[in-house]
Order: sequence, then C-alpha cells, then structure tokens
Amino acid sequence: MDYEAVLEEVAAFVRPLVGRGQVARYIPALACVDANAFGIAVADVDGGVYGVGDWQTPFSVQSISKAFSLALVLAEGGDMIWERVGTEPSGNPFNSLVQLEYENGIPRNPFINAGALVVTDRLQTLTGDAGAATLELMRAESGNRDVRFDLEVAASEGDNGDRNAALAYFMASYGNLDNDVPTVLDHYFRQCSIEMNCRDLALAGGFLARHGLRADGTRLLPRREAKQVNAVMLTCGTYDAAGDFAYRVGLPGKSGVGGGIVAVVPGRCTICVWSPALDPRGNSVAGVAALDHFTSLTGLSVF
Ligand code: DON
Repeated sequence: MDYEAVLEEVAAFVRPLVGRGQVARYIPALACVDANAFGIAVADVDGGVYGVGDWQTPFSVQSISKAFSLALVLAEGGDMIWERVGTEPSGNPFNSLVQLEYENGIPRNPFINAGALVVTDRLQTLTGDAGAATLELMRAESGNRDVRFDLEVAASEGDNGDRNAALAYFMASYGNLDNDVPTVLDHYFRQCSIEMNCRDLALAGGFLARHGLRADGTRLLPRREAKQVNAVMLTCGTYDAAGDFAYRVGLPGKSGVGGGIVAVVPGRCTICVWSPALDPRGNSVAGVAALDHFTSLTGLSVF
C-alpha cells in the first residue's frame, strides 16, 4: 500500500476540520498549543514509517500513555490487575467520579483516569518508578532516546489536579491503592506529560499491531494480553465516545487531551494522528475524522 499517498489524501480531506473544537485548557500548559496543527503517521509491522503534515512535531501524549502503562503492568505483573480495575466502558467522562462509590472503589476500566491511577499504582509497586518505566518503553519502542517528560506540563497538571487527587484519595479509602496518593499522582502526571511526535508514537505502539512483539523481536506481552489491551482500547479508549469511535473508525484507539490518538490495525500497522482541538468528550475532532477517512479509504479496519 502507498501509505504516503493515502495519508496525503486523508490530510486534504480533514483540512476543513482542523482547528474545530477546543484545545484542552484545564491543564494550563496545554492551552497555548497551536489549534491548527495536524499530523499523521503510519508505522507498519516491519518498522516502515510514513507521515504527512506536522508528524514530526512533539506534543503531550496525555492519556495515550495509559495504554503503555497498562501493557507494562500486564507484562510485569500479569492478570492480577483485573481484580482491581474492570474491562467495561464507563459511559461517563474520563475524569468522572460518579461510578466509583457505587462500585466500591473499582474503576470501570484502565483508561478512565481512576483506572489509570490504579494501573500507575501497580506499576509503581512492580518497578519502583512507574513514570520512568513508561518513558523507557516509549524510548525503546520508538527508537528515540530523546523522548522526555515535559516537567512544566506535569507541574501545571499537578497544580490543577484536584479532581485526580479526589479520585485517588477516594480509591485509597477503599484500599485500592498500595502506594501513597502523592506518589501515585506524581508518577501519573509525569507519564501523561511525555512529549512525542506522531512518528515516534506510531512506532512505539507497534507491539500492539505485532500481537505483543517488541521492535527488537522479543516479546513484551503474550498474545492473549496484547489482545486484551487492543480490546479495551476499542471499547474504552475514547471514553464516552467509544461507541461512536468504533462505529466510525472500526479500530482499537487511545486518545489523549493533547490531541493525539493512536489506533491499531492488528497484524498490519499502527497509526498516530495529532490535532489539538478537541470535541466535548476530549477527543481530537480532526483526528477522529482522519482515522474514519483512513479506514474507509484503505479498508484497514478490524471489521
Ligand atoms: O488526567 C488527566 O486529566 C490528563 N492527564 C489526561 C486526560 C486525557 O488525556 C483524557 N483523554 N482524552
């Protein structure tokens, strides 16, 4: 397939949508990002990578990091995490508190903030440095040792992180955190602050398209666990828009409020699109439209 030609066509198609929506403002350091940026990259399972637009401009990965920390927890600690976090869509916004009390401090899934905090807590217990473990996975799989935290973004989120703190303390009251809340929040904010571009993120997500195999051919995840991460991305990766995303795009996908989305075509390729203006549910407007057009043009969907 001529990925570059496909990506050019996708970029031209979504151009009128770029800039529609709102850049995330609740993390002040993200509010100054250019709303008119757009980039998209495809990494095929053999390591070939193609891109157009602003595909080499770094952005804040935010919740996309949740798929990577989950993969690490499954790799290092196996299935036990599923006793502390569910696999069902929440139907609620990513930062919602409302289900946690009814459901005894067990978050619906690992991609809403509450679930990701539990995953980060587990990764902290397993590795002693959850933020560094996630960063190292990103560096190793992208092949870019310069991938880094943006500590200004992490601090900015920490200064405005009352809601995540509320989620974490509430779960701690149910005994669903092993580490102290400030430690969990610190590692969670750092993991979310990782800066990467579309090229590096598409490459970094390659193990999800290779059924768990890393870029160097060694195994990160058993095939079954790679299937689980992809399945939860399909059903929960875009929060209360996951049904619409599955209907339009037909791929597992994980979004972030930095405006990035990583989508996986198992056995074929990983796609990363970035455009910072978001819809009201926190997903990139142009990004979702681009993935919709990509799968419609190419037929590369799981359906
Ligand atoms: O915890 C937060 O609110 C952010 N660090 C991440 C949220 C996010 O990216 C949701 N994605 N669409």
